[in-house]
Amino acid sequence: MSDQSFKRYTITAALPYANGPLHIGHLAGAYLPADIYVRYLRLQKKDVVFVCGSDEHGAAITLRAKKEGVSPREIVDRYHNQIQDTFQRFGMAFDIYHRTSSPLHHETSSQFFKTLYDKGQFEEQVSEQYYDQEYDQFLADRYIYGTCPNCGYEEAYGDQCEKCGTSLSPSDLINPKSTLSGNTPILRETRHWYLPLNKFQPWLEEWLLKGKKGKWKTNVYGQCSSWLKAGLQPRAMTRDLDWGVDVPLPDTEGKKLYVWMDAPIGYISATRQWAEENGKDWKTYWQASDTALIHFIGKDNIVFHCIIFPSILKAHGAYILPENVPANEFLNLEGKKISTSRNWAIWVHEYLDDFPGKEDILRYALCANMPETKDNDFSWKDFQMKNNSELVAILGNFVNRTLVLTQKYYDKVAPKRGQLQPIDQELIKELAEIPGRVSASLDAYRFREAQAGMMDLARAGNKYLADTEPWKMIKTDPERVKTIMNLALQVTANLAILMVPFLPHSSGKLYSMLQLDKLDWDKAGDHSLIAEGHTIGTPELLFTKVEDETIEAQLNKLMNNAETPQAQAQVTPAKEEIVFDDFMKMDIRVGTVIEAEKLKKSKKLLKLTIDTGIDKRTVLSGIAEHFTAEEVTGKQVCVLINLAPRKMMGIESQGMVLMAEDADGSLRFISPGEATANGAMVS
Ligand code: MF3
Ligand code: ZN
Repeated sequence: MSDQSFKRYTITAALPYANGPLHIGHLAGAYLPADIYVRYLRLQKKDVVFVCGSDEHGAAITLRAKKEGVSPREIVDRYHNQIQDTFQRFGMAFDIYHRTSSPLHHETSSQFFKTLYDKGQFEEQVSEQYYDQEYDQFLADRYIYGTCPNCGYEEAYGDQCEKCGTSLSPSDLINPKSTLSGNTPILRETRHWYLPLNKFQPWLEEWLLKGKKGKWKTNVYGQCSSWLKAGLQPRAMTRDLDWGVDVPLPDTEGKKLYVWMDAPIGYISATRQWAEENGKDWKTYWQASDTALIHFIGKDNIVFHCIIFPSILKAHGAYILPENVPANEFLNLEGKKISTSRNWAIWVHEYLDDFPGKEDILRYALCANMPETKDNDFSWKDFQMKNNSELVAILGNFVNRTLVLTQKYYDKVAPKRGQLQPIDQELIKELAEIPGRVSASLDAYRFREAQAGMMDLARAGNKYLADTEPWKMIKTDPERVKTIMNLALQVTANLAILMVPFLPHSSGKLYSMLQLDKLDWDKAGDHSLIAEGHTIGTPELLFTKVEDETIEAQLNKLMNNAETPQAQAQVTPAKEEIVFDDFMKMDIRVGTVIEAEKLKKSKKLLKLTIDTGIDKRTVLSGIAEHFTAEEVTGKQVCVLINLAPRKMMGIESQGMVLMAEDADGSLRFISPGEATANGAMVS
C-alpha cells in the first residue's frame, strides 16, 4: 500500500528536548518537512492529526538543570514555553503541542509499561552499574566520562564519543569518572527491566529489512540494516534516576522509565489529549490498520523510531507500526556543524525577531537546502540569494506583474479569454502537468524537488509574459492581451494552491490579493479557476529584497556571539617582520577556475585550470577533502602566479591558490568580494 492510500494519518515530529531554544537545524531536520507534508495532506482533505510536544525527561534535562543550578522542573517549564511560543510564531501546523511532564503522559506511558510487564515482555536483570558514592546515586550514561577506547579522546561520554562518533556503553570507557563529583565511580548492583530486542530481531528483519526495502529513504534503511547486521541486544527500559516517569511496579523507588521508552509514547499521549479536546477517538489514530503512522525526525533518532519504538509497539500488540520514517540528515551553518554549546546557530526565535513577517523566506531557504540525503549547508549569502533571485525575481515578480497589469488594463476585473494560440496551449499544458509532478515529489518525501516544481510554474508564468509581452501588445492588439492576462491570472491562482505547503503565509496573502476562496489540491492544474468578470483586490508585493547590510549584520552577529575558545587559543602567532619589497615580489592575480578535476591517485589534490587573465594554467591545490570539483568550478580566486613551478603526481603546478584556514581546519577561498576582471592585481 502506498503512503497515499490510507484513510487516516498520524504524523509526528520528534519531541524536542526542553533544554534549550530551537535552531534552524531542528527546523530543517524534522519540523519543516513534517509541516509541509501535513499541509499537503490537509489540502487533499485527508484526515490528519499532527502531534508534537516537549520531551521533558532524561539526562538532557537533568544535566542542564545541574549546570544552571536549578530544578529540572524549572528548566522544562522555561524551555517548554519558549519552544511552544517559537513554533507558534513560526506557524507550525500542529494540532497539538503537548509535553511529557503532563499527568496524562505519565499515566499513558506508565500504563503502557505495565501492559508490557503483565504480558511478560520484559526480562528482569541484576547487573553492576557505576555509582557515585559522594552523590549517592547511580550514574546514567551521560553522567560518566572517560577515555574513548577507540580514539583516546579523554572526555568521551558513557553513551558516545563525540570526537570519533563511536557509540559506547559506560563499561567501555577507560578511566571512567563521574560528571557529578569528578570521582571514580564504583560498581554497584541494580535491577532493571529489559526489552529483549534480540528476540525481535527475526521479526524486524521481516517487517523492516524485507518490508521497507525500496520504500524507506536509503539513509534511513541503511542505518537500520547496519544495526540489524550488528545484532540487537536486550535494552533496559528503566533507569536509576529521580526525574522521569515512575516505574509502575512495587519496590522500585528511585527508578524511572528510560527516556527513549517514555518519549515516543508522548506521541500517543499528545494524540489522546487532542482527541479529548476535539471529540475524537484517539485509538483510531494509533490502532486502526487503515491509519498511516509517519515519524519525521533527524538522523540521530533513527534507531529509536525504526527499531526500538516499533518493537515496543509490537510487544504491546494493539498498535499500528510506522508506515514511514522519512528522517533527514544534518544541516550545517556556514560550513560548520551547528553547535548549541559553542553558540554556532541561528536561533529561530531570534530570526523571527529580526525578520518579522518573513517566516516564508526561512522556510524556502531551508527547504531548498534540506539535508534529505546527506548533510547540507545553510549560509546567509545563500539565504539572501534564494530570496532576491528566486522569491522576489521569479515568483514575486510574476505575481506582481500579472496583478498590476490586471489592475491597470481592466480595473481589477478578470478579462475574457479569446481564441487560444499555440503559446497559450503550451502554458496550459505545463500548468496541467506541474501539480502532478509536485505531488509525486511530495509523496516520495522529496521536498526540495517538490518546492522546485512549484517554482517551475512561476518560471513558466514569467516566461509566458516575457514571450507574449502584453505591455507592448496592449497598443497593437488589446483583444489578444485579454487572453494573455486571463491565462496569467489562472497561473497565479494555481500558484496560490501549490504554495500552501511551502510558503503558507505568502499563499494566504496571494489568495487575499486574488479575492479568492481557498482551493483544494485537486483543483491545481485547472486553467479556469478565476472566472471572467471576477474582481481581484489591490496588488501588493509578495516578497521584498533582503539587503546586503541585513546579511552582514547577521553574519557579524553569528561570528561575534560564537564561542570559540579553541579558535582563539589556536590562532597561529605572527610571522617575523618583512619589508615592503618582500611583499611586492609576489605577483598575485584574480583568476577564474574554468575546470577542476579530482586526481584519482591523490586524496588531497584537485587539478584546477585557472584563467589568470594572462594565460590559462594548471594549478594543483590541496583542497580535495574540502571541496568537490563542481563546487570550485566557476569560482573567482586569488592566485600567486610567479611561484616557481612544482611537479606533484607527475603534473606541473604553476602557481598557488590563496586560502584562509581557520582553527578548526575549515578552508575558504580568498576571492574578490565582487566579480572582478581576471588578471587584476592583488596588492
Ligand atoms: N528529544 C529527542 C531529541 O531531541 C527526540 C525525542 S523523539 C521521541 O533527540 F519520539 F522520543 F519523542
Ligand atoms: Zn573516540
